[in-house]
Amino acid sequence: MTTISKNIVLKHYIPSGTPTMNDFNVREIPLKLEKSNEILIKNHWISVDPYMRTRMTDRKNYISPFKINEPLEGSALGEVIESNSKSFVKGDFVTSFFGWRDYFISNEKEVNKINPIDIPIQAYLGPLGFTGHTAYVGLFQIGQLKPGSTILVSSAAGAVGSMVCQFAKIHGCKVIASTGSDEKVDWLINSLKVDFAFNYKKIENLVLYFKEICPEGFDFYYDNVGGEFLESAIYRMKNYGNIVICGRISQMNATSPGVGLRNMAHVLVKRLTIKGFLIFDHLDNRNDFETDVIKWIKEKKLVWKETVFEGLENTPMAFAELLNGKNTGKMLVKI
Ligand SMILES: NC(=O)c1ccc[n+]([C@@H]2O[C@H](COP(=O)([O-])OP(=O)(O)OC[C@H]3O[C@@H](n4cnc5c(N)ncnc54)[C@H](OP(=O)(O)O)[C@@H]3O)[C@@H](O)[C@H]2O)c1
Repeated sequence: MTTISKNIVLKHYIPSGTPTMNDFNVREIPLKLEKSNEILIKNHWISVDPYMRTRMTDRKNYISPFKINEPLEGSALGEVIESNSKSFVKGDFVTSFFGWRDYFISNEKEVNKINPIDIPIQAYLGPLGFTGHTAYVGLFQIGQLKPGSTILVSSAAGAVGSMVCQFAKIHGCKVIASTGSDEKVDWLINSLKVDFAFNYKKIENLVLYFKEICPEGFDFYYDNVGGEFLESAIYRMKNYGNIVICGRISQMNATSPGVGLRNMAHVLVKRLTIKGFLIFDHLDNRNDFETDVIKWIKEKKLVWKETVFEGLENTPMAFAELLNGKNTGKMLVKI
């Protein structure tokens, strides 16, 4: 049987600014299982993620630019609906990198079968997916977070940030959370139980504000945004503090090159450690992460939220709204 797959493609590269629906097309491709190990999958959930913005330019990065007029890629969660493989049966749930499309054909190696625990299946793109894994690796492997630390988290009500806040609280840390709306501040305080949260858009001078809310300074900064926020955090780090560079979303739509850090003297004098990482280097090592996060979920120590757009055609809109800060928790598309 032939299945028609709808794919979102990029019409042209977008050097700067927020992408719009006009930058994308929907393309249809007929699919038919032919080889013995192939499986046909229907995606139910698609993840949109900030790093995809970089792939929409023709600049070289750690991951190549998207190909124009070719199906875009990204994390997705789907269900096997037809299988020529002995390892997969109809009804199996899989995660893959075949996002931005409704149906696809894959071989056995390009998808990961999941054995879901009793939680909404899309959590395998959130707390139990790259998102949770990024928070876990950044805090515990890269940053070696110590119990009792005071940690600052930016984009704290986002997908990764909301996991960082909770993992750090479980680890016995004091969490200070930054986000871009009062509603998100409420969620951080009332549901995620962080120690302090604020709306960075209302703060005129972050360095002075940090001094006011946390006079002792930060032991650890989990950086999701880069730019001026990072520079301000450096001013208020304690001696021997740790900064983990996870993302730089404040710079992603920039129309001109960002200004470099002007306070490297603080890095020197305070003997700070600043370390970046990419989750793609850690994908083979999920055991501790899965064990801990499944345990925390079962113990009801973790909460999470999703902002959901309906329909494949709305994926570009979901992506733009992610960059505009319209998500609380994980931004997903349901198809
Ligand atoms: N290193 C890795 O391997 C890795 C893996 C996954 C993600 N990341 C990075 O982690 C960060 C968070 O990713 P995510 O998937 O969890 O996204 P997210 O935080 O759920 O969503 C992005 C959020 O960024 C905030 N934002 C947008 N423009 C901003 C600006 N100019 N200044 C400050 N904040 C801004 C918005 O929230 P507000 O309302 O707070 O502004 C928005 O909701 C991103 O930088 C991403 O690139 C890195």
